[in-house]
Amino acid sequence: MSLVSQTPQWQALQGHWNEMKAVRMADLFAADPGRAQAMSLSAAGLYLDYSKNILTRDSLDKLLDLAEAVDLKGWTRRMFDGVPINNTEDRAVLHIALRNRSNRPILVDGKDVMPGINAVLARMEAFVGRVRSGEWTGHTGKRITDVVNIGIGGSNLGPKMVCAALAPYQSESLRVHFVSNVDGTHLVETVRRLDPETTLFIVASKTFTTQETMTNATSARDWLRAALGDSAAVARHFVAVSTNAGKVAAFGIDTANMFGFWDWVGGRYSLWSSIGLPIALAVGFERFVELLEGAHAMDEHFRTAPLKENMPALLGLIGVWYANFAGARTHAVLPYDQSLRFLPAYLQQGDMESNGKRVTREGVAIDYATGPVVWGEPGTDGQHAFYQLIHQGTQMIPADFIGAIHSHNELGDHHPKFMANFFAQTEALMRGRSFDEALAETQAAGVADGQARLLAHHRTFPGNRPTNSLLMERLTPRTLGALIALYEHRIFTQGVVWGINSFDQWGVELGKKLANVILAEIEGGKVTAKHDASTKALLERFIQHRRR
Ligand code: F6P
Repeated sequence: MSLVSQTPQWQALQGHWNEMKAVRMADLFAADPGRAQAMSLSAAGLYLDYSKNILTRDSLDKLLDLAEAVDLKGWTRRMFDGVPINNTEDRAVLHIALRNRSNRPILVDGKDVMPGINAVLARMEAFVGRVRSGEWTGHTGKRITDVVNIGIGGSNLGPKMVCAALAPYQSESLRVHFVSNVDGTHLVETVRRLDPETTLFIVASKTFTTQETMTNATSARDWLRAALGDSAAVARHFVAVSTNAGKVAAFGIDTANMFGFWDWVGGRYSLWSSIGLPIALAVGFERFVELLEGAHAMDEHFRTAPLKENMPALLGLIGVWYANFAGARTHAVLPYDQSLRFLPAYLQQGDMESNGKRVTREGVAIDYATGPVVWGEPGTDGQHAFYQLIHQGTQMIPADFIGAIHSHNELGDHHPKFMANFFAQTEALMRGRSFDEALAETQAAGVADGQARLLAHHRTFPGNRPTNSLLMERLTPRTLGALIALYEHRIFTQGVVWGINSFDQWGVELGKKLANVILAEIEGGKVTAKHDASTKALLERFIQHRRR
């Protein structure tokens, strides 16, 4: 199978970028009063304006030709139909089934997965009801006030991001905390203020073998046993979310208190499964279902809308345009919503673990860029930190701006001020400021000519920096579900264009393996394995200084 870079559609785009790179978006807007209208669309409660991009209708047609050439629609169908498109692990990719609110049968190996999904959801609903009502108590009979989710990667980032995003829907009577890092500080600082009698731990791990999670879970169990003085307490204070019942039982958690999921749910796509238990505990099961419904609405849009009106597909293709033809190496996600502060970190795993690949599905080395570095922080904090580089640095950084029309916390004029910044930044990034404009402004301020010219160079903004603007009425469980699904399908679209498997993650294996070798050396107090000179010296220093 040849690389996508050999196709005529790819090569046409290469030639097209050479024509487009000198084109100014401001001129495109001036020439076409209908541009903003034509390059915007709504789906699943989200409104996307993608008109502030360096592209024309012709560019979009060429990108859509590329999508046709790689059979994006066919791959989408295969994913939704449960075909094992994760070819290195021989697994279907069915996070879409977890939120399939239509209940349409989805078959894996000839068996409908929906009854199993619905059964786990029913168990989650019952458990959430019992904890939130106070019926489920701790070992000493007290009501649960704090839930600590112990998990890492996909077993942490998604639920943590969603719980923060839906904070306005949470009551004060049940607080949810997240411990992920194996740095003991994370667990110690989290439980320091908690009462063991009223704390419930969720050990969330697809494999139930992840070193960080199992270490934290073991220490949490020790903390609880020491405080309550009774090993039997574990049964009332620990539940598990996993696909590995054997390991859950071996850890000492009753499998009656285990919520399962399936190997066709990738870790970074798992918040819709029982990995979402902390979300449901935090906001209630009905809100969790609304989150699933929002994602389902986006799934249906992605599955059925023609590519030229398909929000995730368009965003994915625009990303390909910049990554592969304009040479952009990073992609910024800039939520204008404080409660979406963990979205960039969540999307880092979602995107970079999915599309950080260097061979095609067939194992052929790739000669083009794949996943960009994804990063970001909420506005307006980011404006006072790194926007300088986006405006005046030497590299192009395509950025997504995300905001809501109504805030959950309408406080005086905060929200109008906040969103004024959103709109101003996207306008400034597109429009820029020419040298002549900067000079005129500086001269008008009475600066002497030589200095005015110097300052004008520094105050010139090249502009023509691309952005997408995503708006929603309000950040609700539904719009949040749609937003996350939008990014999942954007990632999928790009993976299909690049011909890679977006659903495995072999790149995290090697470091884990070496860490186990090194841990044995640290514990044995002697470097025994073969290492490079740098690693050996660092290890010896660490061991020696620990001994002192
Ligand atoms: O970082 C690698 C990874 O396998 C992720 O894909 C996954 O989300 C994370 O580790 C946690 O895995 P588990 O849920 O099995 O503990």
